[in-house]
Amino acid sequence: MAEKTVLVAGGAGFVGSHLCEKLLDENCRVICFDSLITGKKENLPSMSQRKNFKFIKGDISKKVPSLRIDGIFNLASPASPVDYQKRPIETLFSGSLGVKNLLDLARKNDAVFLQASTSEIYGDPLEHPQKESYYGNVNPVGPRSCYDESKRFAEALTTNYCSHYSVETRIARIFNTYGPRMRKDDGRVIPNFVMQALKNGPLTVYGDGSQTRSFCFVDDLVCGLLSLMKSGYTLPVNLGNPDERTIFDTAKKIISLTGSSSKISFAPLPKDDPLRRRPDISLASEKLGWKPVTGFDKGLKSTVEWFRTNPGR
Ligand SMILES: NC(=O)c1ccc[n+]([C@@H]2O[C@H](COP(=O)([O-])OP(=O)(O)OC[C@H]3O[C@@H](n4cnc5c(N)ncnc54)[C@H](O)[C@@H]3O)[C@@H](O)[C@H]2O)c1
Repeated sequence: MAEKTVLVAGGAGFVGSHLCEKLLDENCRVICFDSLITGKKENLPSMSQRKNFKFIKGDISKKVPSLRIDGIFNLASPASPVDYQKRPIETLFSGSLGVKNLLDLARKNDAVFLQASTSEIYGDPLEHPQKESYYGNVNPVGPRSCYDESKRFAEALTTNYCSHYSVETRIARIFNTYGPRMRKDDGRVIPNFVMQALKNGPLTVYGDGSQTRSFCFVDDLVCGLLSLMKSGYTLPVNLGNPDERTIFDTAKKIISLTGSSSKISFAPLPKDDPLRRRPDISLASEKLGWKPVTGFDKGLKSTVEWFRTNPGR
C-alpha cells in the first residue's frame, strides 16, 4: 500500500481514526472524508500535522468529491444502536446512496473498494458460531433494521458492482470491536461499563447477562482490514475475536480491572438484541493469514486507561 492514495470514509470515527493512523504508518497518502455525524475531528490531532493526511468534511450519501485515489475504505455509517436509532434515515442512506457514490468513485478510478459490513447482518443468529455462509436472522422492520438492512443492502450492492462492473471489492463483516477513542456516550457495552465503573456507579446489564459477545481489540481489527484490502478476496470475511464471553462476566471483569466498588444492576433486554455472537474466523485465517493477538485483559486495560485520561471525550 506504500505511496498509494487511500480514501477513508468515516475516518474521524473510532475505527476509522485508528485505520488512518496505520495507513500513514504504512506510507500511504490518506484522505479522510467524514460528515462528523458521530465522529470527531479530535480523533485526528496528530495526523492533521502529518504531510500525507488531508481531511474533507462531507456526507457520502450526498456527494463525494471527484478525487484521484487507489483505494477506498468505507467506514462511514452510524454504528452504535444509540446513534443509528437516533438517525435511522441517515443510516439507511449511508448504506445505500453513500455506498453507491463511493462505488462509482472506485469504478471511475479503477480503485479497490472495501466495505465495512457487520456481524449485525446475521441478526439474532440461529447458527453458532457464525460462518460467512450463514444468511442471518434479521427483522426487517425492527428497531435495528435501519442498520442491519442498510449493511445487507451495502453488501449486495458491493457484490454486484464487483460482478457487473468488475470493480475490485472487499467486504469485512466486523464483530464487536473496542478500544481507545470510543465515545463514552455511544451506548455500546464496553464504554458503558467502563464509564459506570470509573464513577463507582452500578453497571447496567440488560436481560440476565447470559447473552454473549466476542470483543476484538481495535488494533487487531485494523490489521485485519489491511490484510483483507491487500488480499484478492472479494466475498465477505468475518473479522472478530472468537473469545466469547457473557455480558455478566464482562461486567465483573471490568469492575475488577478498574478496582471499582460498583455493583451490577439489571434492566430489560432491548427488542431484537442478539443472544449469542461469536465469529468463525477460519476463512480469515485461511485467506488472509489473520487472527487477533490482543488478549481481553490487555485490550481492556488500555481502553480503561484511555477513558481515565480522556474523561471529556
Ligand atoms: N465498532 C464496531 O464494533 C463495529 C462493528 C461492526 C461494524 N462496524 C462498522 O465499522 C464502521 C466504523 O464504526 P465505528 O465504531 O468506528 O463508528 P463511529 O460512529 O465511531 O464512526 C463512523 C464514522 O462515520 C462518519 N459518518 C457516518 N455517516 C456518514 C456519512 N453519511 N458520510 C460521511 N461520514 C459519515 C461518522 O461521523 C464517524 O466518524 C461503521 O461502518 C460500522 O458499521 C463497527
